[in-house]
Amino acid sequence: MKFFVDTADIEAIRELNDLGLLDGVTTNPSLIAKSGRDIQEVLEEICDMIDGPVSAEVVATDCETMLEEGRKLAGIAPNIAVKVPMTFDGLRACRSLTHEGKMVNVTLCFTTNQALLAAKAGATFISPFVGRLDDIGEDGLKLVSDVRQVYDNYGYETQILAASIRSTAQMTACAKIGADVATAPPAVIKAMADHELTDKGLSAFLADAEKAGIRIV
Ligand code: E4P
Repeated sequence: MKFFVDTADIEAIRELNDLGLLDGVTTNPSLIAKSGRDIQEVLEEICDMIDGPVSAEVVATDCETMLEEGRKLAGIAPNIAVKVPMTFDGLRACRSLTHEGKMVNVTLCFTTNQALLAAKAGATFISPFVGRLDDIGEDGLKLVSDVRQVYDNYGYETQILAASIRSTAQMTACAKIGADVATAPPAVIKAMADHELTDKGLSAFLADAEKAGIRIV
């Protein structure tokens, strides 16, 4: 499973990228706003650092303006994936941008039918939002699993980019389901390294090493 980090925080991206953990980045207007930076400038910096796809979202809601914005965003760097919302205008924009050879991420997907439409419109990525479905008492991971099944039934090449991931358990579940990509905040990706028995075991080993005077020279 590929890992994308869901942030526009340059230092957080750099830290994970330096470890070789990242295959891409996702941003959205809320994350860009949180960074307090100019969208163009921050996307340029991210794209310079990351070899893989960097999702950048349009803010228009009509197809024509989405296309204008999408072309501008895609002009920033060849690894930009234009993010469009899962609406009829978004699907139209997806189809045109895909025909122009641009990567497109259809975002805000909450049903299997929406994922089917995005695949038929030629999306590079579909983003089912796991956490936001859980927030309203539905099962976000079941959506990822259902989309996997449907895409496999028909051999759709659209990649499933599990989004709105809030926990390490959801990362494991997405990998078991066979999501192509999961995007998560930096803290969730970092927390994947943690286990209390790792900490406890390390403390015991270090205490024993200290007692026995073990020195590696
Ligand atoms: C994905 O591309 C979105 O930016 C993101 O995963 C949304 O996550 P949230 O629901 O935690 O805001």
